[in-house]
Amino acid sequence: MKKIYLFGNWKMNMLPDEGADYCRSLERRMTGSFYSADLVNICLFPPFLTIPATAAALPEGPVSIGAQDGFFEDRGAFTGAVSMDMVREAGCACVLVGHSERRHIFGETDEIVAKKMHKALSTGLTAVLCFGETLEEREAGRTLAVVEEQLSSAFKDVPHEKAVRMILAYEPVWAIGTGRNATPGDAQEVCSYSAERAEKEFGIKIPVLYGGSVNEINSRELLSQSDISGALVGGASLKVESFLAIYENYRKL
Ligand code: PGA
Repeated sequence: MKKIYLFGNWKMNMLPDEGADYCRSLERRMTGSFYSADLVNICLFPPFLTIPATAAALPEGPVSIGAQDGFFEDRGAFTGAVSMDMVREAGCACVLVGHSERRHIFGETDEIVAKKMHKALSTGLTAVLCFGETLEEREAGRTLAVVEEQLSSAFKDVPHEKAVRMILAYEPVWAIGTGRNATPGDAQEVCSYSAERAEKEFGIKIPVLYGGSVNEINSRELLSQSDISGALVGGASLKVESFLAIYENYRKL
């Protein structure tokens, strides 16, 4: 039985009290033998200011906390930015890098993403590298070329010995928050390409998650694909029931 990564990106949702309530509810519902650390790795990504309350209420078991972003400089005149070591000191084990909303709304380039990857990994965090094509790029048949560009740029400054702390998350831009997920076959194709590409670069197997409108109905088929190691979930992670059902519906196969 493969281990599943179930990552919940809360985006700009959840006040501190709501984050703490979520954790209490998670603790009550995470019952059953399949909530062992060998079988599942759950990570919650609250907004920065909700991290402390969520971290304080985090249940025992295979659950950790991550940040949605972190900057590539350590200190200085970078108004509004939060450094990777601040993220780590707040109790985060993990950080998302290059999420499509960071790229498309906040103008993050591949170059910025590469610097953040380097900083996250050298700070001791697990870095979840998010990448994926737009609808226009998919329709032009450029999906794998775009993915290749994003991966090779992000990989180039990653020290090889730190790649064990890297996770990939393929999130086609057109599938995020749209209710339109990639078919399991399409998702598998890109995840398989990405896993091979990472293995070629670093000589190790790196987990590849799929993200983009994952829910309790489509998760079984998506998570059953051989090169999909888990899900990065946005909307459906905001309620404990729908979040855990994504995993349970797969495990109960
Ligand atoms: P979604 O978001 O599940 O709401 O599509 C996924 C993500 O942005 O990580």
